[in-house]
Amino acid sequence: MKNLVGIEREKAEKLVVELNVLLADYEIFYQNLRGFHWNIKGKEFFELHGKFEELYNDAFVKIDEIAERILTLEGEPLHTYTDYLKATEIKEAKSVTDGEKCVEIVVKNFSTLIVKERLILSLAADAEDEGTLSLMSDYISETEKTLWMLNSYLK
Ligand SMILES: [Fe+2]
Repeated sequence: MKNLVGIEREKAEKLVVELNVLLADYEIFYQNLRGFHWNIKGKEFFELHGKFEELYNDAFVKIDEIAERILTLEGEPLHTYTDYLKATEIKEAKSVTDGEKCVEIVVKNFSTLIVKERLILSLAADAEDEGTLSLMSDYISETEKTLWMLNSYLK
C-alpha cells in the first residue's frame, strides 16, 4: 500500500517516527544555540556571538524543512516542547557563558544529530524515498564540514 507520493505506507510511517526525533533534536539544539548567542562572555564574544547566530539561523531553516517533510510523508510533526523534550536525546544547556564550553556542547549536539541523519538516510534508501534521502544527504555533508571546523577551533 503506497501513500500519495508513492512510498510504502509502512516505511513512510517508520521514517516519520525518526524524522520527528530529528525535529525534536533540532528544536532543543536551536534553543541551546540561542542561549549561547545571548549568554556568551569574554574575548571571543564577537566571533562566537555571530557564529551561533549563523548556526541557529541554519537550524531554523532545517526545522521547517524536517516538519514539512513529515507532512509530505503524511505524518504529523511534533510541535510542543513537552513532546520535544520527551523525544530528544539533546540535553538543554542552561546559563553557559564560557565560549569553549559552548562550542564543546555544539560539537556534542551535532554529533548526536549526524547519527540520526545517517539512520534516516538508510531508512530512506530502504523506502526508495529520494526526497528524504537527498535532504539527509545535504544535512550530513553540511554537518560534517561544520564539525570539522568547530573541532579545529577547539584544538
Ligand atoms: Fe541577536
